[in-house]
Amino acid sequence: MGFVVNKLSNTVAEVVGLDGSKPMAPEDIARLKATFLSHPIMCLRDQKLTPAQQGAFARQWGPLEGQDRSAFCHPEDKDILILSNDRRPDGSQVGIVDAGDFWHSDSSHLAEPCRITTLHAVRNPARGGDTYFLDMRAVYDALPEHLKKRVAGRDAIHHVAKTLNPRVAVSTERAGAVEYYKQREKETKPVTQPIVRTHPETGRQALYISPRFTIAIDGMDDAEAQPLLDELFRFMFSNPAWQYTHKWRDGDLVMWDNACLNHMAGGGYEYPDVRWMHRATVVGDRPYYRAA
Ligand SMILES: [Fe+2]
Repeated sequence: MGFVVNKLSNTVAEVVGLDGSKPMAPEDIARLKATFLSHPIMCLRDQKLTPAQQGAFARQWGPLEGQDRSAFCHPEDKDILILSNDRRPDGSQVGIVDAGDFWHSDSSHLAEPCRITTLHAVRNPARGGDTYFLDMRAVYDALPEHLKKRVAGRDAIHHVAKTLNPRVAVSTERAGAVEYYKQREKETKPVTQPIVRTHPETGRQALYISPRFTIAIDGMDDAEAQPLLDELFRFMFSNPAWQYTHKWRDGDLVMWDNACLNHMAGGGYEYPDVRWMHRATVVGDRPYYRAA
């Protein structure tokens, strides 16, 4: 298939002229995979995809992660999650309304977090709705040596319950969210993740923590760990050159590599200005650290 890959920065590649609704030829998949290793944010423009077609596209990269929020899964493909602020006539939400409202790497609260996220912009709001990305490889590379030494080989503790994390707040837009997270506190075990994550394919190191999911450091008292996390989080956001803002066009299919990025939904729109996205996530392996 004749498509063009435009490398927009060290992190972002734009793909034009590829029809993601059709199965890709092996050489096309190989070309996209090679691009994705160097450019972990890839935007395929002008995609007209049904949920089933998006699911089929994403499965070419690996099996999809099951979703635990079944009320917001698409009936056409249960592995597609609806992220939206739209409402039914009775006022109920059609999708997750507060998805990604703090910096995170997707599902790092699971022992085997998803590796790739695919997000399809079905409908964008008239204003707002940007997604912010942060290149955690660049963050790691720039980290001062004394901080690299303190975190190398250490694990952090990640948890899904926002109610356990003073660095985030529970959205007031989502009905029953506090009760949901209180329940998750009881039912969900925290997981440990390496603070420095070695990329399973490129071997490149990235900082693998986030304000959303990282709540402590394994084997370190909070008196020492919380100031260290604060210092790392401050450092992450200290250089705008490590960030990329994606301004969505209708039909964009953006896929990103959670092994080496943080991202966040920018918000800035209000119902009845509707944002409607479909998300499918490709499973990943247990993250690890290997000294360079
Ligand atoms: Fe996310």
